[in-house]
Amino acid sequence: MDILELKEKDFVGKGSERACYTHPTDHNKAVKISYEQHIGRSKQTTAEINYYKELLKKQDMNWKHLPKYYGEVKTDKGDGFIVELIRDYDGNVSKSFAYYINNFGVQNYTKELEEYKDFFLKHCVIFNYGMMPKNILLRKTSENESHLVLIDGLGDITYFTFPNKIPYFARQKINRRWDKFTKKYLTKKRVRE
Ligand SMILES: Nc1ncnc2c1ncn2[C@@H]1O[C@H](COP(=O)(O)OP(=O)(O)O)[C@@H](O)[C@H]1O
Ligand SMILES: [Mg+2]
Repeated sequence: MDILELKEKDFVGKGSERACYTHPTDHNKAVKISYEQHIGRSKQTTAEINYYKELLKKQDMNWKHLPKYYGEVKTDKGDGFIVELIRDYDGNVSKSFAYYINNFGVQNYTKELEEYKDFFLKHCVIFNYGMMPKNILLRKTSENESHLVLIDGLGDITYFTFPNKIPYFARQKINRRWDKFTKKYLTKKRVRE
C-alpha cells in the first residue's frame, strides 16, 4: 500500500485523539489519523472501522447521516482511514451542531433532530457516548435546508455487542442512549464546541 503524505495546509481539525485532513487528491474525502501520544489505533477507531464494515454489508443502508466510508490507509503520520469530508452546499466544511446550538438555540433544530433520531432507529445504527454536539456536523444542503451528520461516536465500544444484531435490542439501546444524549446536551443553553 502506498503511503499518503499529509500536509499541514490540508489540516481540517482535531479532537482529543484524532486529527482530520483533506485527502491530498480528493477534497471531498477526509483522512483521519490518531495523533502523537496515541500511537497506533485506539479502541474507539477500531470499533468505528469495524462498525463501518458491518454497515457496508447492509442492503438498504442510507448514508445521509454518516460520512461514507472508503477504507483504511497508511499515511506519513500513521495508520488512518478515509471517510467522506462533510461540506455544505457552498463548499465550506460543515460546522458542528454545537456551534449552531450555541449561536441559534437548539429549538431551531427540532425537525433535524427528529429525522436524525429516526435514521438510527430505522437502520439500527448504534452510536456510543462520543455522540455529542461537537461530534455532529450540521450539513447545509441549501440556504435553508440542513441535516445532521455524526462524525465521531459510531459503533459500540462495549465488549458485549451481540444484542446489537437483534433489531429489538438494538433499538432499545438506541432509545436509551438517545434519551441520555438529550438530557445531557439538548437541555442546555450552551454546549462544548
Ligand atoms: N467527516 C468529517 N468531515 C469534516 N470534518 C471532520 C470529519 N471528521 C472529523 N472532522 C473534523 O476533525 C475533528 C476531529 O475528528 P474526531 O473524529 O471528532 O476526532 P476525536 O475522536 O479525536 O474527537 C472534528 O472535530 C472535525 O472538526
Ligand atoms: Mg471528536
